Amino acid sequence: MKKTFYVTTPIYYVNAKPHLGHAYTTIFADTICRFHKLMGEETFFLTGTDEHGDKIVQAAESQGKSPQEYVDEISSLFKNLWPELDIENDKFIRTTDPYHKECVQRFLQIVYDKGDIYFGEYGGYYCFGCERFYTEKELVDGMCPDHKKPPTYIHEENYFFRMSKYQDWLREYINDNPDFIQPEPYRKEVLSMLKEPIGDLCISRPKKRLTWGIEMPFDKNFVTYVWFDALINYLSAIGWPDSEEFKKFWPAYHIIAKDILKPHAIFWPTMLKSAGVEIYKGLRVHGYWKVDETKMSKSLGNVVDPLSLKDKYGVDGFRYFLMREMHFGHDGNFSEKNMIERFNADLANDIGNLFNRTLSMINKYFKGKLKSQISFEDMDKELILLGKRSLNNYITSFESFNSAEGLENLMIFVRAVNKYIDSVAPWTLFKNKDLDRLNTVLWVVLICLRKIALALWPVMPSSSEKMLNAIGLALDVKSFDFKREVDDFSTWEISDNLPKNLNLFPRKEVFKEEKPKKEAKSSKNEEQESYIDFDVFQKVDLRVGKVLDAAKHPNADKLLCLKVDLGEQKPRSVVAGIAKYYKPDELIGKNVVMVANLKPRKLRGEISEGMVLAVHKKDGLQVLAIDGEIDPGSKIS
Ligand code: MSP
Repeated sequence: MKKTFYVTTPIYYVNAKPHLGHAYTTIFADTICRFHKLMGEETFFLTGTDEHGDKIVQAAESQGKSPQEYVDEISSLFKNLWPELDIENDKFIRTTDPYHKECVQRFLQIVYDKGDIYFGEYGGYYCFGCERFYTEKELVDGMCPDHKKPPTYIHEENYFFRMSKYQDWLREYINDNPDFIQPEPYRKEVLSMLKEPIGDLCISRPKKRLTWGIEMPFDKNFVTYVWFDALINYLSAIGWPDSEEFKKFWPAYHIIAKDILKPHAIFWPTMLKSAGVEIYKGLRVHGYWKVDETKMSKSLGNVVDPLSLKDKYGVDGFRYFLMREMHFGHDGNFSEKNMIERFNADLANDIGNLFNRTLSMINKYFKGKLKSQISFEDMDKELILLGKRSLNNYITSFESFNSAEGLENLMIFVRAVNKYIDSVAPWTLFKNKDLDRLNTVLWVVLICLRKIALALWPVMPSSSEKMLNAIGLALDVKSFDFKREVDDFSTWEISDNLPKNLNLFPRKEVFKEEKPKKEAKSSKNEEQESYIDFDVFQKVDLRVGKVLDAAKHPNADKLLCLKVDLGEQKPRSVVAGIAKYYKPDELIGKNVVMVANLKPRKLRGEISEGMVLAVHKKDGLQVLAIDGEIDPGSKIS
């Protein structure tokens, strides 16, 4: 039987139109799901809309529409957007669907019959924006920390879920299953939430205040709290408890952003435990997209519309950028300038050009037809070995939901193939009439292109299929096993009528940012220029990192290559110019101060994902280090 894989996105509120953030999570889930398909698994991918609660009623009222009319309209914006972005979800759930309502009531009844729901009185600070009660401790200066608005004090009778009963169990479960919540900083955040009593969860709203919700099965005067209703979508969509689909696919991986960690990491597992349903497989939490380093918000007018970007850069360029740019667990910064630069560097130059020049050489030298009988020389074998290594790393990264790292591993291979072509110089082989060797070289390159095109399929399905069709492979993912492809670079039927070229990613123009005109300044102004604003400083993410390993840089005497633990899933690779002052061994075990959000870059061929800070002294340089026990990744402010 095939391995199965079930992945979900949050179901989005229908109080606003879909934007970049929603598009990112859904493209991310689609990419991860396609990757599992490519690995030969049977997959199920769920997304949808969350349509109950106060927020929706208010949004509908503000537009003079009935809630139903309003949710139908916005939900269809989400539903119709996904195919435009090449997102292939297996199901689109709406919490107003009748089957979902029935399922929520069934779930509630089970938890109620178990004695885990009780009726009680409650007075608390309620934020309508978040649709939840806050404790006084959670408020910041008396305001909701998210909406920065004062909450409303509400006193009413309600139903409560005995969440506290499962607190110890949950803590133990998370400790025993380190892979349950990832990346690591979010797992730690949840464990620290569990150090304080989590209390019980108010799971109803009286109908006299809100009717737009699912009626409680044991009391007609109340509707279900929107989060309790929404989380159950992950079960109702696949026909819990009896359907074949449920038996086949549950438990799921849930992909969310950091904003909704608590309901997914605390409410949801305790709800499942109480109802006697197997706990979901894993929670994968990504960061937030900012736009030009600023929070995206309606009031700032910088909300990014995914469709307009798709129209401008093509769906694949857009998908590639999102998957390549956001490092899993970290926040990402969106700017069109970065997007164009990334498009030109990776897609137009490295990948597009590689395909194009290979096809055009095969056409020019062999009229589009290569012989497949070949023997490899050492440098061919080396390239293939590097390809296997990079693709295996790509697989490991995608298996741990790290698309940026996966694509970086793939790009290592792409660049190596380009370098291989440059160093064998097929044009010289042709000039010297060494046609057998020329055939072998182009054959090796073509095999590599096949693997690269396949590896791109999860991220850019349409371009990948164009590449594969051009070289004679009609991809049928249902009967595919990418791991086998990676292990076997030897045999392959290729098309004997390769096209002359394939212009996949024409370069984009980099638009020039208008620089503010410099005005004549007084000396006072110039003096002020040497200051930076506090918010500029705040952008620098300083962290404590533990040096796990250090070695000399293979190509540069002044540099050392470090592996530094920042409390993330994987240690960072950091290249530091300190070889003159430190022997590698002297650094191992030190808690150094790191700039953690520097854009990764290569230093003499080695990737560097951060910078170690040091003090310049008269007689040299001293790395800034912190004494004593301290958790790697601790923030310095
Ligand atoms: N309805 C709830 C989720 C219920 S799931 C059982 C909800 N909806 S939401 O419309 O607010 O969507 C939140 C999600 O949208 C985030 O977790 C994330 O997936 C995505 N994003 C919204 N803005 C985002 C960014 N700026 N950046 C990245 N993702 C963001 O919460």
